[in-house]
Amino acid sequence: MTRRAVIQATGSYLPKKILTNADMESIVDTSSEWIEQRSGIKQRHIGAENETTADLAIAAARDALDSGNIAPDSIDCIIVATTTPDQTFPSVAVKVQAALNIPQCIAFDVQAVCTGFVYALGVANSFIISGQARNILVIGAEMMSKILNWEDRTTCVLFGDGAGAVVLQADENVQGTLDDRGIFSSHLHANGAQKDLLYVDGGPSSTQTTGHIVMQGKEVFKYAVQYMSDVVKETLAANDITPDQIDWLVPHQANIRIIESTAKKLGMGMDKVVVTVDQHGNTSAASIPLALDNAVKGGKIKRGDMILIEGMGGGLTWGAVLARF
Ligand code: ACO
Repeated sequence: MTRRAVIQATGSYLPKKILTNADMESIVDTSSEWIEQRSGIKQRHIGAENETTADLAIAAARDALDSGNIAPDSIDCIIVATTTPDQTFPSVAVKVQAALNIPQCIAFDVQAVCTGFVYALGVANSFIISGQARNILVIGAEMMSKILNWEDRTTCVLFGDGAGAVVLQADENVQGTLDDRGIFSSHLHANGAQKDLLYVDGGPSSTQTTGHIVMQGKEVFKYAVQYMSDVVKETLAANDITPDQIDWLVPHQANIRIIESTAKKLGMGMDKVVVTVDQHGNTSAASIPLALDNAVKGGKIKRGDMILIEGMGGGLTWGAVLARF
């Protein structure tokens, strides 16, 4: 018998306000066609003026706990992946803990930009396997709208706000084969030499301001395609499986062309790929758990399906997680 981290429940939350591509035309010099053709995005959700990342995270966490009928007091660790915390400190994770009346437990944020949720899953998996925690709330939550330069058409049309969550639970009674439910492996990478391709031009110890996103889109695109393909191959090889054994690819939702390219390299049809970028835009660390919950609640991903999660973002950072749902 071995110990695995099983995804028991998923949840999500999207702010009510929707900005369509047509709405973006009245904000910057762009066109609906340009945005959709270059990125696949049709609309994005934008948080209200007084809404914060913690509000979104709390709502997504509540949804996950309710969906799995899981008691908040069973949670012994909260990890929030975010790039847009309410404050420099305390973490969004402790705000979730307070709002949901979760007893004293481990609570912290993870910062790996758009790869944040993949990193958080990797950390949570290690905590469960090592016996440090049994029931972990893993959340990806972002208010990207608050760090966008709304005059920069090369970035502001691409991002949106939202949050997604999963509850990981320890299962000690698995055989240790690919037939078991749970996470099989995580593969996390970073290349700090590429930190200037995608960054925010502010921060507490530099400008004492929050700053705005700056991105060399073409360069990031090129590395995204390469890294996604590399990490997917690495994950398949580590588990000695072939692409046809994967039921669903759940990629970071930055650009439909990056997603299609990864699926093509895997030889997977787009009918096996979860796509929400058209509806949500790029919600950074929230994009994967949002897509996952969308596919689970929409009846696509079912218990027992093999899922491959992958993402990349600022840093540059990238990674993948293989799991049986
Ligand atoms: N509307 C109209 N025209 C525009 C817009 C816009 N919103 N933005 C740029 N353009 C123009 C450019 O000025 C350029 O014009 P020029 O040729 O006259 O100079 C032209 O469109 C083409 O621009 P490119 O940047 O070459 O367009 P590209 O096809 O590369 O698409 C995009 C841009 C969508 C940003 C793409 O490069 C991309 O998706 N990059 C990767 C993004 C990503 O994956 N990020 C990682 C995660 S994000 C995170 O970690 C926070």
